[in-house]
Formats: sequence, C-alpha cells, structure tokens
Amino acid sequence: MTRVIKGQTLSFTSSHAPVHEEKGAVVVGDDGTILWSGPQPLLPHAFRQAQVDDHGAKIVMPGFVDAHIHFPQYRMLAAPGKDLLDWLTRFTFPEESRYADPAYAAAAAEVFLSRLFQHGTTAALAFCSVHKACAEALFSAAEQKGMALVTGKTMMDRNAIPAVQDDPETGARESEELYRAWHGRGRLRYAVTPRFAITSSEAQLKAAGELLASLPGALMQTHLSESPGEIAFVKQLFPDARDYVDVYDRFGLLGGHSLFAHGIHLSERECARLSEAGASVIHCPTSNTFLGSGLMSMPHLRKAGRPVHIGVATDVGGGTSYSMLATLGEAYKVQMLGGYKPSAVELFAMATRGNAGRLRIAHETGAVEAGKYADLVVLDPCATPVLASRQEVSASLEDVLFSLMILGDDRAVSATYVRGRKVHGQVTA
Ligand code: GUN
Ligand code: ZN
Repeated sequence: MTRVIKGQTLSFTSSHAPVHEEKGAVVVGDDGTILWSGPQPLLPHAFRQAQVDDHGAKIVMPGFVDAHIHFPQYRMLAAPGKDLLDWLTRFTFPEESRYADPAYAAAAAEVFLSRLFQHGTTAALAFCSVHKACAEALFSAAEQKGMALVTGKTMMDRNAIPAVQDDPETGARESEELYRAWHGRGRLRYAVTPRFAITSSEAQLKAAGELLASLPGALMQTHLSESPGEIAFVKQLFPDARDYVDVYDRFGLLGGHSLFAHGIHLSERECARLSEAGASVIHCPTSNTFLGSGLMSMPHLRKAGRPVHIGVATDVGGGTSYSMLATLGEAYKVQMLGGYKPSAVELFAMATRGNAGRLRIAHETGAVEAGKYADLVVLDPCATPVLASRQEVSASLEDVLFSLMILGDDRAVSATYVRGRKVHGQVTA
C-alpha cells in the first residue's frame, strides 16, 4: 500500500548540498521505494488518499549508513583495554569465539539489527567473526528485515586464540561459499574480510587477494594504520613491505572496492597510493579516542593532488556508541583537535549519501529521492530538555544538525524505516 511520510524533509545532493523542506512529504510505494518527494503543497493528487505518517516538525532524512561495525562485538562496548592489541587479546577474541554456535549467532543478529534501527542506522558494512555461521546468521536476519547489508566472514590465521582462527584454504573456501549463497540476494553484498595484517599470514592475504579478484562486485574490508603498537608489529611481520598500505597492495587488496578502517598514521606515500587506487578510509572517532589510537586528520587525507575518500563509522565495540549522531559529534571534536572545523552538514552528508557511496549502495539508499528505497530516520531536534532549550536559540538548519550531533543519540531517533517499513519507533506529530 502506498504511504505518505510527512515531516521536515532533508537529504543531500551528490555534491553534499542540503535539500530541505520545512513541510515535506515522501511517498513510498508497495515495494518500499520512494515514488515522489517534495513540499507538501505539491503532493500529487494521486497520492492524496494514501495513508499518512505525519512526523510534524521532526526531521525525516536518509537513515544512517555505518561504514564499519563489528557484529560479534555488539555486547562488548566499554571493555577497558590498555591499547588495541591488549583489547583484542583480552576481550575481543574470547567474545567472538562464541559465534561458532549458529543458534547463539542467530539470536545475537536479531539484537544487533534492532539496536542499529533504534539508533537510526539502516545500512551497514559489518565485520563478522571468523565463523561461517556468524555471517550466515547476519545475512539471514538482514534479508528478513529487507535492509542493505554488506558483510563477510573474517579471515584470520595467526596471532589469535585457536577458537577464532581459520587457515588460508578454509578461509577462502568458506568466503567463496558465502559469496555464492548471499551476494546479490535482495539487498545483501559480500565483503572479503581479512581482519588485518597482524592476524593474516602472507598465504592468507594472497588467498584473499586472489579471491577478491575472482568475485565480481565484492567489496574488501580490513583495518589499517590504527595504533602505534599495531604499526610496529606489522613492520616486524612484513620487513620487505614499504609501509602498511604496501602490505595490502602487494596482495591485490587495494582498489575502489576497498574500505580501510581508521587510517590514522598514514604517510604521504600511503595516502597517494590509496588515492590512486580509489580506496576509502573510514574514520572511527569514538574508537580512536577510547583505545587511545590517535587522532585521524580529514584534511591530511583529503590533501589536494592525492585526495583519499573518507567515510565515518561507529566501530562498535571498539567504538563506544551505536549512535551515528554521537559518532559525528566525536568526529567533530577529533577534527577540531587537529585544527579543522567540519560543518554539521558536511558530517551528516558523509554519514548518509557519502557512506552509501563508499559501500557502493548509493544507487539504492542514502538519499530521499525517487527511485531509492525509503530507508529513513526521523530525528526529533527537541528530544531531550537540553536539546529543546538549545533549539530555542537555533537559527538555521546547520544549527539544528550541529546541536543534534553534539547533544543527540538514540533518544533523538523518533522512528526508523527500512524499505518503507517502520522498524523502530512511534508515529507522533
Ligand atoms: N584491528 C583488528 N581487529 C580490530 C577490531 O576488532 N577493532 C578495531 N578497532 N581494530 C581492529
Ligand atoms: Zn574495526
């Protein structure tokens, strides 16, 4: 049944300019795609009898796209590691070992996805554990919700406990089986997922690169240049590589389909090579401050002559919030510490249309536009007493978005729609 969703509509163009209607409407068809959007007075007659969800003055905008999150870490936010490697060894690998059990993974996938929706996130690029059952559980739950999800079985064959290790042959075979079973099914996509250079042998990185080259449309996700201890260890493990980027490059893991989480300590050469390859670096600010990894610089990555694509993500459970609003607020603070002041419009555009582009799903989500799926979040700028007081002095859209990212979190998410279907929240004007 066709439905009209009314509210203060907001989207971003491909050049990240805001498109904003104070009294806007979005028409959603039976198949969950947007048929029309624009100002309420111009709503075509054909849709005037349709059922209405009226969100009044709340903001109806594209759902957030989380460009880097770990499904099997959904319970372990706020684990106090000394640094990245200590945190992985002490907390993360034992927790991920539970996902060998398909029943456990299936139950966890339901909780994980409902948590994303509670926070207004409608699409994601996610890590699974090393276990095939973990990826199967997440694909299956996401398919049932009708959401856009890119994920993959983590490949890791060294420097971890045996319960979360595979081997080059098994890792590649199971990854390929998952790709064949799930890639392109509905809104699901596969990402070849070597965890990072520390936990994959040369043989496994080689297998991952060969696999990536053989799977049309697959993405690649891994971690890169996150912490000083990690970088020193990578140097020891790959003494012949020019730098960290070169480790992945020499195994064919660098391309426009590659997404690298963190990218904090990259050299000029590494940035130039990432830029040339068209790869993306995903900024994970709450994780970077929490684990003491460092301050990623957007201007450094974007430098003229060798700009690197940037996305933004929670990195739960190294990250400390599922909320992309809180994540944007923290990105703002991290950039300010590096001397750069991003606008709220810039960061909101990055978390929606920008991230959708990084995940190669911008043709179907990330904007409120006819032809895309109605993956939407409804934000209440007055959700808390502090936000409500702040709006009394907000004078512009930039002001409202800025206050939402600094002061907002899941309390500001009034409703979430995936493919036109409400998956979280109530309709109230
Ligand atoms: N590097 C390798 N694995 C991980 C992980 O799970 N989280 C973070 N933040 N960095 C990593
Ligand atoms: Zn991560």
